[in-house]
Amino acid sequence: MRLVLLGPPGAGKGTQAERLADKLHVVTISTGDLLREHVERGSALGLRARAFMDRGEYVSDDTVVQMVLERLQASDAQEGFILDGFPRTVPQAQALETALAEIDRPLSAVLKFKIGDEMAVRRLANRWTCPNCKRTYNEQFKRPKKDHVCDVCGHQLVRRKDDDEVTVRRRLQVYRDETAPLEFFFWERGLLREIDAEAPEEVVTDRTLDAISDIVDLDGAQ
Ligand code: AP5
Repeated sequence: MRLVLLGPPGAGKGTQAERLADKLHVVTISTGDLLREHVERGSALGLRARAFMDRGEYVSDDTVVQMVLERLQASDAQEGFILDGFPRTVPQAQALETALAEIDRPLSAVLKFKIGDEMAVRRLANRWTCPNCKRTYNEQFKRPKKDHVCDVCGHQLVRRKDDDEVTVRRRLQVYRDETAPLEFFFWERGLLREIDAEAPEEVVTDRTLDAISDIVDLDGAQ
């Protein structure tokens, strides 16, 4: 199972990646999380990426492609993977397609989560993230049991720097300009499935599993 999750900021890619990984028993690879780890470590890559991320713009294709292709070589990605937030540009998609063709393991499907701008802004304005285990919570939709503390690992939750309204609207525009053309790229290859993501998270998971029921054994997965 080799899946790509596509969709604007706040569509629920990270939330669904975690839920699907549990059901499908494959690893999740989030380029946003990988980049934030580099920024926290202060690596050369992190120093290059930081200003772009803070402005809500994309990090360069070369940097992100190299980071992901290295990650895909790890042993835990050999049985399958869910890519959350990659590819986001046509050059990234072409690089991934070429790399997977070389090992004869093409993508299984690309899932596009659809959500309106106002819902995206509302979700991100209320998001809290665990810097340790990366789980997300929401003041409106999914509160932790104890205020600002992760239910799973007990770490203090934080707000992401790029979740203020101005940066979120910039991120939505960058998505429209640079990532929306990818929908056609994957549609042409028969891989694209669209999912209405403005519903409770468990409903979105069911819709996603329905959308890929031709490649997933649903009884085995649930
Ligand atoms: P990244 O971290 O990937 O951010 P993003 O794509 O903007 O997506 P988000 O993480 O904001 O949203 P999400 O769709 O995962 O939503 P979530 O599940 O958290 O990237 C950050 C930056 O890194 C980019 O701006 C760029 O600079 C750089 N970058 C990353 N990848 C790159 C690439 N490939 N190329 C170049 N640069 C790259 O949910 C959001 C909130 O809503 C949460 O609070 C959640 O609890 C809640 N929620 C989720 N689902 C539901 C639901 N169904 N109902 C109610 N609430 C829900």
